[in-house]
Amino acid sequence: MRKLIVANFKMNGDSEFYRSYIKNINKRLDKDTNFVLCPPFVYLSEFSKLKNKNAIGCQDIANIVNTKSTGQISPKMLKEFDVKYAVVGHSERRANGETDNLIAEKVDVCLSHEISPIICVGEPKKSSKIDYIINQVKIALSKNKNDSVIFAYEPIWAIGTGDIPTISKINKAIDLIKNTAKEMGANVQVLYGGSVNKENYIDLLNSKADGFLLGGVSLKVDDYIEIVKGCK
Ligand code: PGA
Repeated sequence: MRKLIVANFKMNGDSEFYRSYIKNINKRLDKDTNFVLCPPFVYLSEFSKLKNKNAIGCQDIANIVNTKSTGQISPKMLKEFDVKYAVVGHSERRANGETDNLIAEKVDVCLSHEISPIICVGEPKKSSKIDYIINQVKIALSKNKNDSVIFAYEPIWAIGTGDIPTISKINKAIDLIKNTAKEMGANVQVLYGGSVNKENYIDLLNSKADGFLLGGVSLKVDDYIEIVKGCK
């Protein structure tokens, strides 16, 4: 299966940045390449110019479909902008108080509207037991699940630090996530995320990861395109 390469731009960029990024992607990546770009909500309109309509994602989604939800963005609104994927439960949101139960509600909202959730799980410290992630997986899938669910194994200690787990630790985490999901009735894909760059991704291709969730490196379009092409 082709690797899925997801760019999480976090709270970076402006209109000009996204316009030029999309121009580059349209010119240099095939329409059918397996990549996903997740900009902040306010720039989604720029992505109408992206040739690959399957490559549009976002960084969060509302946990309930109720118009009395100040500040939230509904799946219906996202679908107007061709959004096919939503990152859910990123550790930077969990650090702001997002709970496993809230994440389960967001997963349900995604799946009820044919949006694939990319659910982030990961242990807080390098010394933490890897079993930590089992509960995160179980609760995330407790309200709804199917085979379009994607997980991203993102150890918190590896995000933006340049420190990455060994291939064997990544494989162990991926097996745990896949087996836990399978026991609950879903065959999921699992990406790896945390300090992936254009040097280490080649080695990381030896892991069982079905693709990568990229943060910092995706801000340089040349590096992002190099990784996407290298994973083809
Ligand atoms: P990083 O971020 O690639 O900059 O470590 C990954 C992420 O937070 O998803």
